[in-house]
Amino acid sequence: MIDRIVNTASDIDSDDSDIEVTLRPKDFNGYIGQDRLKANLKLAIAAAKKRDEPLDHILLYGPPGLGKTTMASVIANEMNAQIRITSGPAVERPGDLASLLTNLSDDDILFIDEIHRLHRTVEEVLYTAMEDFKLDIMLGKGPSARSLRLDLPKFTIIGATTRTGAIAAPLRDRFGMVHRLDFYTVEQIEAIIARAAKILNVKIDSPAANILANRARLTPRIANRLLKRVRDYADINGDGVIDTDIAYRALKLLDIDELGLDSTDRLLLATIIDNYRGGPVGVETLAAITAEERTTIEDMIEPYLLQIGLLERTPRGRQVTAKTYTHLGKTKTASDSNQSSLV
Ligand code: ADE
Repeated sequence: MIDRIVNTASDIDSDDSDIEVTLRPKDFNGYIGQDRLKANLKLAIAAAKKRDEPLDHILLYGPPGLGKTTMASVIANEMNAQIRITSGPAVERPGDLASLLTNLSDDDILFIDEIHRLHRTVEEVLYTAMEDFKLDIMLGKGPSARSLRLDLPKFTIIGATTRTGAIAAPLRDRFGMVHRLDFYTVEQIEAIIARAAKILNVKIDSPAANILANRARLTPRIANRLLKRVRDYADINGDGVIDTDIAYRALKLLDIDELGLDSTDRLLLATIIDNYRGGPVGVETLAAITAEERTTIEDMIEPYLLQIGLLERTPRGRQVTAKTYTHLGKTKTASDSNQSSLV
């Protein structure tokens, strides 16, 4: 896994995870942004409560770091329900799923992160569990095998994925609600930084908060991490207060530029320009250039670059835009691709 401050992979084992949990809003009031998703969820929660029914299964998708796990715990809180958290790769066998499901109570929420990585055999057991609250298990093998049907509590699955395309249609169809989390606006990220600074007792002035917000890749997880790293810098090289001077110096040390790009992003974009005349170039080639997995490029690096218009996806691969040339201080030459977006 890439080790970058802009890394958006959830890092349950890292030192930061405790703080990440502390910063997590508990309810819709504390959760900044994703307004349409919140409005839809509030309605569904109110209706479920009114009918005294469990909440429909929910699938949340979108780039990492935008708050899928946080939203799942907010939903649990708002439902006054218990939440159990697991992930696709952690549920190795149907028996693991059976033990998770049979230990739930009515109205409990089972959050499955990276649900696209569930094993096929596990996924198939999940279908009937989600649809009928029944668990079909096979006892024994061969001709003497028998199937046993168990009743399950009326639970809710919240699945999270960075890639809906990777989810089999039968699984996707079993979610009553499917919602995408969008990138945040700079203003929302600024508000998230202000909220986190208050909780962590960090003094940051608003121009400095604005600088960090502009470099956080429109992603709360990165905003909170930047805040912590810049706080370290302020504690050691200043009086603990984050002002614009401290913010600029700390970000320079972190090698994060005005758009939140780090050296990997810049290498990727510069190589498309220098070696591939601006593109298009296949994603496998980009993976080789940056020594990253293809999925890392697709899930973690590319979405933000696409969002801010530094990269475009075409049927023949990825290409840069005029904005990329400007940002990297490069001049487009006559031999560079002559795409309309480049002129
Ligand atoms: N911390 C991380 N994500 C957040 C969000 N969406 N709102 C408030 N605080 C957050």
